Amino acid sequence: MQQIRPASLAELSLLPAIEDAADREFDVASWVAGPLPQRAPVHEFSEALHIMVAGRPPVGFARIEAVGGEAHLQQLSVDPAFGRVGIGTALLEAAIEWARESGFCAMTLSTFVYVPFNAPFYARFGFKPTDQLGPELQLIRAGEQSAGLDALGERTVMRLDLGHHTFVPRPRLP
Ligand SMILES: CC(C)(COP(=O)(O)OP(=O)(O)OC[C@H]1O[C@@H](n2cnc3c(N)ncnc32)[C@H](O)[C@@H]1OP(=O)(O)O)[C@@H](O)C(=O)NCCC(=O)NCCS
Repeated sequence: MQQIRPASLAELSLLPAIEDAADREFDVASWVAGPLPQRAPVHEFSEALHIMVAGRPPVGFARIEAVGGEAHLQQLSVDPAFGRVGIGTALLEAAIEWARESGFCAMTLSTFVYVPFNAPFYARFGFKPTDQLGPELQLIRAGEQSAGLDALGERTVMRLDLGHHTFVPRPRLP
């Protein structure tokens, strides 16, 4: 199994090609009604909150952002040449663990409802569809809509409770 670890700076430029290759999975069985819009430019990776990769050189990655005070799985991609051997699962588990250890109360993501490696895959880990969207998640959904994603297939936002309570500072002792 490929080791999961934080991405190094030098590896960030390799990630758009992995995302491109992974997104070709959508064409294979016509899971969605057309090609996906352009993937993230490389500068978005260098501005990410946290990126974990699998393999050396990387063959898959998970990109996590902070959205509305929660961890948000912005992207999970595995090069299909290395697909279906558990790397996506290992990356997702590592991303969830990282978010939990970092103190986030929940992890969210936005994905296609009817693609088997999207919503049904995340549901196996306990992610549940939610319509409780704060302003930042609403902005992400609006961006997806204007990029044309919703025209390709029904989308949903999912949330996983990470078991932390919202941080409430203790009152100062007199
Ligand atoms: C989703 C993704 C990261 C999974 O990576 P992976 O390394 O293949 O994941 P795993 O080997 O852990 O498999 C996870 C499960 O996803 C499902 N799955 C993965 N690829 C699939 C495919 N082409 N067709 C149907 N189901 C698929 C299966 O249920 C699989 O479990 P199984 O092999 O035991 O049946 C990868 O398919 C990918 O990069 N897809 C394109 C980008 C994407 O959709 N990302 C997620 C949404 S943001």
